[in-house]
Amino acid sequence: MSSITRILLILLAIGGGLVYNQLQQLWGDVPPPTLDAQQWWGKDASPKDYDVYLASTSKVLESRLVYPKSTIDELRQQLNRTLRLTPPLNGVGFRYGFNSDYLKELVAYWRDDYLPRWREREEFLWQFNHFTTEIQGLSTHFLHLKVKDEDKVGKQHYALLLLHGWPGSVREFYEFSHLLHQTKLDPTNKYIFDVIVPSLPGYGWSQGSARTGLGPAQMTVILHNLMLRLGYNKFFIHGGDVGTIVGSHMATLYPENVLGFHSNMCTNLSPKSQVKAWLANLWPSLFVSKELEDFFFPKAKEASFMIEESGYFHLQATKPDTIGSALSNNPVGLAAYILEKFSTWTNASYRALPDGGLTQRYTLDALFDNVMIYYLTNSITTSQRLYAESYSNAQRALNLERVPTAVPTGCARFKGDLMQFLDIQLQDKFKNLIHSTYYRRGGHFAALEGPKVLYDDFIEFVKKVERKFNIKTL
Ligand SMILES: *[C@@H]1O[C@H](CO)[C@@H](O)[C@H](O)[C@H]1NC(C)=O
Ligand SMILES: *[C@@H]1O[C@H](CO)[C@@H](O)[C@H](O)[C@H]1NC(C)=O
Repeated sequence: MSSITRILLILLAIGGGLVYNQLQQLWGDVPPPTLDAQQWWGKDASPKDYDVYLASTSKVLESRLVYPKSTIDELRQQLNRTLRLTPPLNGVGFRYGFNSDYLKELVAYWRDDYLPRWREREEFLWQFNHFTTEIQGLSTHFLHLKVKDEDKVGKQHYALLLLHGWPGSVREFYEFSHLLHQTKLDPTNKYIFDVIVPSLPGYGWSQGSARTGLGPAQMTVILHNLMLRLGYNKFFIHGGDVGTIVGSHMATLYPENVLGFHSNMCTNLSPKSQVKAWLANLWPSLFVSKELEDFFFPKAKEASFMIEESGYFHLQATKPDTIGSALSNNPVGLAAYILEKFSTWTNASYRALPDGGLTQRYTLDALFDNVMIYYLTNSITTSQRLYAESYSNAQRALNLERVPTAVPTGCARFKGDLMQFLDIQLQDKFKNLIHSTYYRRGGHFAALEGPKVLYDDFIEFVKKVERKFNIKTL
């Protein structure tokens, strides 16, 4: 080798090393940040003595929230005003957004069918025990289904935290919770769960922050405090939508408490994962079997779908309070804004239908239960602020997407969902991705749309965790 070649090689090695180093800084793994478990989000000044505060407010109160008749009557009257809607374009279905002809029908249903039966809906909603407890200055609401001692006999008994998303609520999990918490003992079913279903801070009956900065990472801290307060040191997590982000952060920040993380929308939005997806797009068959290619590719199609469908996202990430004022003062608009998502995110082809296919996979009662939760708690604005907090510089600086977690992870993919991630993308983050499944039927709201399919998938995941890891029942 001539000395020139040698020098060139050395320079190349140094150059390569530098490039590698730069890339690692851009996209390598990073260690987990430490978050303050006592960070204060309340309206009032933070307590001087946190131990005194904890002793006085950490009680869990049973809360059965019954709304006065006047609240429901007032809503009926609001829905009885002449609707100022613009007729839809001919044959447009849901492609320009919620079809206003169908919206008129739905408002009539809401006013004349659903609301007169509100007591019955209320009984349905309160069929599980609702609780509130104050955490870090915020009143936090949750459902808590506890297994009775006699029902545990002969069963594998674990705790499970269920995390809903936007524009959903605890209502997404009612049917799913029944399956998890079967009290009618089915001898073939080995599993039974204590189920804890919080309303995320700022959602439903959980108070929203009075201060900026309560993003998904900080929600994780609050919910971790909740689980510890309830006495659960080891638990499974399942989440969808925003709940999947919070669940993933929980598995990342508190791996010692999480037995397994299961999601119906596993994501990894790190720069490295994005690059991988677009490279895989060049030669899909190298990364996924032929019959599953259409879940992921072509990426350009998925990207253009995301642009068409993510206008709400940009609004909420930048000016949540403006859109919030429009929706808080207008129940008709609120219903349209929320329910449009239950159409398109369930199945993009429903955009062609005059009724958005809303009743193909859901009952109107279930959909309006969810709308009612937003309406009664006036939480649309606080729920939307989560998007602004998710994309703040402070949240991004935590770099949680790049912190790997060893918690066993299971990912169920439903074809109708908004985005799909390949195993090779998810594995950067989830080092123990032990369960990865595909469903041709179903979309973004899997728990509400197909509770039994999701339940079976979740149980398969739990069995794998039991086989590979040494976990203890409660
Ligand atoms: C709606 O308005 C009509 C006409 O003003 C009235 O007859 C009806 O009772 C109202 N319905 C409700 C639910 O308020
Ligand atoms: C979407 O709806 C169409 C028409 O009903 C159906 O053929 C397709 O399987 C659905 N897709 C999903 C993901 O459910």
